[in-house]
Amino acid sequence: MNADIVIVGAGLYGLTIAQQVVEHTKSRVLILDIRDHIGGNAYSYTDEETGAEIHKYGAHLFHTSNQKVWDYVNRFTSFTDYVHRVYATHDGEVYPLPINLGTINQFFHAHYTPAQAQSLIQEQAGELSGTHAHNLNDQGISLIGRPLYEAFIKNYTSKQWQTDPEDLPASIIRRLPVRFNYNNRYFNDTWEGLPTDGYTRWFERMIDNDRIEVKLGVDFFDLSQELNKSNLLGNVPIIYTGPVDRWFDYSLGDLSWRTVDFKERRYDEDDHFGCPVMNFSDADVPYTRAIEFKNFNPERYDKQNHERTVVWEEYSRFAHRGDEPYYPVNTKDDHRMYAQYRNLAEHEPQVVFGGRLGTYAYYDMHQVINSALNEYEHTISALLK
Ligand code: FAD
Ligand code: NA
Repeated sequence: MNADIVIVGAGLYGLTIAQQVVEHTKSRVLILDIRDHIGGNAYSYTDEETGAEIHKYGAHLFHTSNQKVWDYVNRFTSFTDYVHRVYATHDGEVYPLPINLGTINQFFHAHYTPAQAQSLIQEQAGELSGTHAHNLNDQGISLIGRPLYEAFIKNYTSKQWQTDPEDLPASIIRRLPVRFNYNNRYFNDTWEGLPTDGYTRWFERMIDNDRIEVKLGVDFFDLSQELNKSNLLGNVPIIYTGPVDRWFDYSLGDLSWRTVDFKERRYDEDDHFGCPVMNFSDADVPYTRAIEFKNFNPERYDKQNHERTVVWEEYSRFAHRGDEPYYPVNTKDDHRMYAQYRNLAEHEPQVVFGGRLGTYAYYDMHQVINSALNEYEHTISALLK
């Protein structure tokens, strides 16, 4: 092996580190990934039948207010003018989200002004005032009142967690933003959009360099293949972006995660929902939301099939070992266990644990890029001297 640094994981964290290494040093980089593609969870591919760009691990929308990250990503891709908006089906009607004055007036069949809506919600949220929110149900009611909570939050959350909200801790929801105007733009960030030529082209450009080698289909823990942990550890600095508990053979226990199963449906229609993301707020629909990928890229109209469309329904559940870990559950036990794994990690000076799996944290793409840029500057560059 002739690499000066090994990166386990070709997700955005690993790709950013690789890019920084070849930009700032003469070092050679080897990236390993167990999957058969780069990009980690942000990977996408083109669906042949419809021309849709399918985000294989769930819908990914880029957004940031971080100037450094925005400048960085624009070196490798431009972005479309896509603006994220979400709708929800509840009791036979479609409403705009996040809950805003449009949602409220449609729900109450009213024409409230912002001030009137605000005092109505305040009054309804007062139902449990003076009591302590013992569970997520109480918390939801105290934040936005029972009618809106039960219509838009209760069943959705119960499907996400596969648990009755009365049995979920109040701490899962700290705030439920309600907008007292008609703004239903989902993100409040300075910049948002989708990569013009797709996510995967963006990622390929990041590592388009002779000193970066990528090996796919390689499990770092598979001792039967050459580029494994016991052969590499101690011989070369390692950036590890896989699950932190797996590095330590789960010796302190398994950190808990939620995952999502996707069910694909195809329709003989140009447009099934009229939007890219439709949430289903009621209990009778078993999935939380459905993604119609074609609608993320209306600018590709001429390249899309207008007789057919593809939709992915999302079913949320707890992850077991071997499932794709998507969202850290973050119970008190998880926090305690992760702190212990961090202690063990401190004793591995030649290894940097990074990214969402390596640090047991939910990061958006802009956050993971920012974290990688900072870690490169503060610790990784020094490992290469
Ligand atoms: P990952 O992308 O998970 O990459 C880690 C890589 O390590 C993987 O490719 C994995 O195969 C590899 N690996 C693990 N173990 C091994 C091993 N033993 N050997 C070899 N390789 C290994 N962010 C946004 O900004 N906007 C969004 O809309 C958005 N939506 C999301 C929706 C979902 C369902 C999920 C799960 C995430 C979403 N994100 C979104 C977050 C985004 O996916 C992450 O910020 C980003 O992918 C993190 O990159 P990473 O490199 O840390 O991890
Ligand atoms: Na991810």
